[in-house]
Amino acid sequence: MTARIQAVRGMNDVLPADSARWEFLYGRARHIFQAYGYGEIRLPVVERTELFERAVGEATDVVEKERYCFEDRSGEQLALRPEGTAGCVRAAIEHGLLRNQQQRLWYSGPMFRHERPQAGRYRQFYQIGVEAYGMAGPDIDIEIIALSARLWRNLGFRRLRLQLNSLGAAEVRVRYRTALVDFLERYRNALDVDSQRRIGTNPLRVLDSKVPRTQEIVKDAPSILDYLDNTARSHFDGLQQGLSDVGIAYEVNPRLVRGLDYYTHGVFEWVTEELGAQGTVCAGGRYDHLVEQLGGGPTPAVGFASGVERLILLLDAQDLPVPDRVPQIYFCWVGEEAQVLAMRQAERLRDVLPGLRMVVHAGNSGLRSQLKRADQSGAKVALILGEREVAGNGVQLKSLRGGDDIPLLQWPELAGELSRRLRTGMERDTLTEDLF
Ligand code: HAM
Repeated sequence: MTARIQAVRGMNDVLPADSARWEFLYGRARHIFQAYGYGEIRLPVVERTELFERAVGEATDVVEKERYCFEDRSGEQLALRPEGTAGCVRAAIEHGLLRNQQQRLWYSGPMFRHERPQAGRYRQFYQIGVEAYGMAGPDIDIEIIALSARLWRNLGFRRLRLQLNSLGAAEVRVRYRTALVDFLERYRNALDVDSQRRIGTNPLRVLDSKVPRTQEIVKDAPSILDYLDNTARSHFDGLQQGLSDVGIAYEVNPRLVRGLDYYTHGVFEWVTEELGAQGTVCAGGRYDHLVEQLGGGPTPAVGFASGVERLILLLDAQDLPVPDRVPQIYFCWVGEEAQVLAMRQAERLRDVLPGLRMVVHAGNSGLRSQLKRADQSGAKVALILGEREVAGNGVQLKSLRGGDDIPLLQWPELAGELSRRLRTGMERDTLTEDLF
């Protein structure tokens, strides 16, 4: 037998049984982004490698260890995007979206990081995210956090915690960095090897170490909050006050540092205890210098991104209801004449009952095996069209999940009968399709 080719490690297929949850989540998210006036931006998956080096930072794991880079046939150095913010800024500058303008944008799509795969952490994963430009905050920071909180409520999530920190602007971080390096140097030999190396490259990341020994040491590290200047302090106070005003609970975590270099001022993460080690379902913050760093004019900016797989895992962990997408009707037919009529009637039903999910049997099989498939499909109703029904100008209706059977239903009554029977299902669908 020929050897099979398997998917690349850390890159997953989403099968129809799971894709209903994805569709549900995207539908809800899109609805909420629109409700806050955010417009969708669609960005390429491939960008110049240099973009991420300049935006995300060369001493970050994302760029240093996890990049997917390649040289294309014309010798350009390209990378699969590890995140969406850099590409969004690149596009916004390139298309003049930031010239004295405010922008509220959202995006979704696959991102790539060569991390060690485990539950909730993959090499190809999906993000939904928002970015807002031209507003110095903290009102807009509060808006995007309120937007995310609304999405969690809308999905039914419980027990998500919001953590906040401020990283100040560049001057704050320079002063803090010096104090932190002094502290870490004192414990250098007790730190894990990665953290020892980071003292020289990216000391703030040491605060984020998952190594228990290092975590124990950094508990006593100086807090960045003690180094905030007046601007940073008043921004952070405003953020906290505003969140309280809109009724969003938060915890200040001075060790929250984020893995990307572009952040300034307020940063935040939504975390859950219910997904093991990969408990951050959404993360973001302000990045006021990135637009300039990438060649645009001075433009304050703030945003977040949320890992779709983690949100789906949380829907499962919290056992939340998701509308299914299985067929509602399975249309069986016996004989050539019946097949032609079944297809014609099915098209008519789709005209008059938009949103109806119906499978018309295809291929040659007996009625028994068609009914077996009908049952396996999850449909509530089987329609049966044989010689007898063709002659009687109607169709037989068989309930597969409770309800009465109708031996012969005349064609003109069919649509009305189906819409009565499937009402609950249809209403729910209309709701998700139209509103979300
Ligand atoms: P990030 O913290 O690197 O931030 O990623 C955001 C979210 O993406 C994480 O909280 C997590 O839910 C998900 N995520 C990250 N890596 C993986 C992975 N390997 N597998 C599964 N899910 C993952 C950013 O990407 C920033 N661009 C967010 C942002 C937007 N900041 C401002 N604007």
